[in-house]
Amino acid sequence: MKEKPPDDARIRHILDAKKPTMNKTIFPILLLLVFISCKETLPDNTVRVDSPDKNISASIFLLNGGVPAYTVSYDGKTVIDTSTLGFEFKDMPPLTGNMELVATETGGENVTWEMPWGEQRKVVNNYSELLIQMKEIPAPNRLLNLRFRVYDDGLGFRMEFPEQPAMQEVVIMDENTQFKLTGDHTCWWIPGDWDIYEHLYNTTKFSEIDAIAKRNHPDLAQSYIPENAVNTPVTMRTADGLHLSFHEAALVDYADMTLKVDKEHLTMQSELVGSDRLGYKVKRSLPFTTPWRTIQISEDAKGLLASRLILNLNEPSKLDDVSWFKPKKYVGIWWEMHLNKSTWDMASGRHGATTENAKRYIDFAAANNITGVLVEGWNTGWEHWIGFEDREGVFDFVTPYPDYNLEEVVRYGREKGVDLIMHHETSAAPRTYEQQLDTAYALMQKLGIHSVKTGYVGKIIPKGEYHHGQWMVNHYQKVIETAAKYQVAVNAHEPIKDTGLRRTWPNFISREGMRGQEFNAWASDGGNPPEHLPIVAFTRMLGGPFDFTPGIFHIKLKPYKEKNQINTTLAQQLALYVVIYSPIEMAADLPEHYENQPAFQFIRDVGVDWEKTEVLDGEVGDFVTIARQEKGTGNWFVGSITDENSRNITINFDFLEKGVQYKAAIYKDGPNAHWNDNPTDISIEEATITRSDELEFRLAPGGGLAISLMKVE
Ligand code: NOJ
Ligand code: CA
Repeated sequence: MKEKPPDDARIRHILDAKKPTMNKTIFPILLLLVFISCKETLPDNTVRVDSPDKNISASIFLLNGGVPAYTVSYDGKTVIDTSTLGFEFKDMPPLTGNMELVATETGGENVTWEMPWGEQRKVVNNYSELLIQMKEIPAPNRLLNLRFRVYDDGLGFRMEFPEQPAMQEVVIMDENTQFKLTGDHTCWWIPGDWDIYEHLYNTTKFSEIDAIAKRNHPDLAQSYIPENAVNTPVTMRTADGLHLSFHEAALVDYADMTLKVDKEHLTMQSELVGSDRLGYKVKRSLPFTTPWRTIQISEDAKGLLASRLILNLNEPSKLDDVSWFKPKKYVGIWWEMHLNKSTWDMASGRHGATTENAKRYIDFAAANNITGVLVEGWNTGWEHWIGFEDREGVFDFVTPYPDYNLEEVVRYGREKGVDLIMHHETSAAPRTYEQQLDTAYALMQKLGIHSVKTGYVGKIIPKGEYHHGQWMVNHYQKVIETAAKYQVAVNAHEPIKDTGLRRTWPNFISREGMRGQEFNAWASDGGNPPEHLPIVAFTRMLGGPFDFTPGIFHIKLKPYKEKNQINTTLAQQLALYVVIYSPIEMAADLPEHYENQPAFQFIRDVGVDWEKTEVLDGEVGDFVTIARQEKGTGNWFVGSITDENSRNITINFDFLEKGVQYKAAIYKDGPNAHWNDNPTDISIEEATITRSDELEFRLAPGGGLAISLMKVE
């Protein structure tokens, strides 16, 4: 038995947790390491690390045969049962057993850091750490380390390959990290697709997960689902009501981890995204570490949403200053193409990106407290976009179509206080894009354009690569790092999933990586059902910001689309500006659809960068209510959305500042509102609200609620 930490260390720990900001304290001392010999079920060699509040414990041990394994418990109850870890390599025996423990080291940290933009300004990063050094018993005595960080809201662990004589480079054929569940949990999942995350979420028991059934989706230009696996974040609820979400943090120079489903043993095992071209999953020189494998744990659904574990597991920012990027609302030449009112290409004769049209959007933005305009289809190449195999060298990121005067649009925008957002659709030809990165970003820098939306529609060229494999992970990373040199912030569509890298690279502002609003314009399956976003909030959104593009007012889409519509009420479209977090939020509809719409006032008013976030309530797949305080003004905004079921919610306004009155504008579903039958029935009321108020609201089926709370000085 190792000694318990001395009491004064414990007290210092508690005091440090209460210090307000930037008081960095590292605990190199033996704080939480306990060798357990008393617990019968775990082997004698078990080492354990507990969360600062002692609720979560990870136990790590070697099974018979020297197989590394771990368990996780919450409040004394096992939540992850004995799960093994290991690797398979090319041209080298696997590292799946025959290991011995060499040494352990404990540590931890309790610091508060600041986000340049985000859901909140200050983030507490408080964890206990355990490093386990292992060695292969027979020659060549390869070394492998495990590092566990346990937080009050979950844990992360990663495998570390230290520098060593026996291995200089590894070619990983697969990583075999297991997560053994303790029951047949209810799961919210999308298939483990190697090319795209734009699937609808499924709600099933773990034993009913069937990803293969989702192959060949007619609306996905790229999709490859080799196994019955799920993508992360995958969120679960146990029979006891505990919420778990599995994901990864800091995915750098490695392949995306999908989780293969073993129904019989209630176990998930990592299945890395591969490359048919290269014939392996990951190639790395030593030393290196895998991304963090994460498990967020919370007694309720809203706790998952409040967790900043994924961000905390990423490295601090590598950029000294990102003040050149300002969080913003934006409009753009975009929805009109998805409605087929205009086109990206010029040959159709209905080109959307003309100088005149761009100026119309700029005028609209300037008049409505919106500071960004996105213009898609501005550059040559679109005649040769979807459906073409030979897309290498087609798109050019510096040459505008002849009816679009880029310089003039930038100048006009500047005059009106509106920034242009650049658009680079790569058509999944990353090599063409990489060749042009410097020229494209140099042009943007010259014009003073600080953000770009990128896109990767189609199968990756070269053939045999997938959007989520190591080769593409490295491409997305190269884009971010190059963009940073030119003071460019990136919003990637068809991206690699978000694993919290915005902490390290705060110019990675947003991305898609889920089924966005655009599906409502053209999906052959009727678009996103009302439960879509109440699931996304507790799954995809745990990864980080996403560019959903809310704010469609013209819900039935007529006359542009006869068979499609938005499957929410108008009030829900407003609520999304608060519920969905992104430092760029689009007002996606056509300017003419916002004319004479009193509800548009909410979009004019709503903040887009936050001092604080309070998750008030929610259940995965049913509803969620979030309040956010705007940075700088102290104003609050509340958003609530529900699935296809109507429900009453009670909001306790005790998050508001003491002694302050707020002038509230309440945008709620009208008495007859219904996502399908009467989506635009909305009622707007004014009220004075203080922190002692508690109010009840009714959300219509597919409905929502949006409240702005402006401080009365
Ligand atoms: C797919 C993106 O998600 C969408 O927003 C964009 O308009 C098209 N690609 C064209 O780049
Ligand atoms: Ca539901």
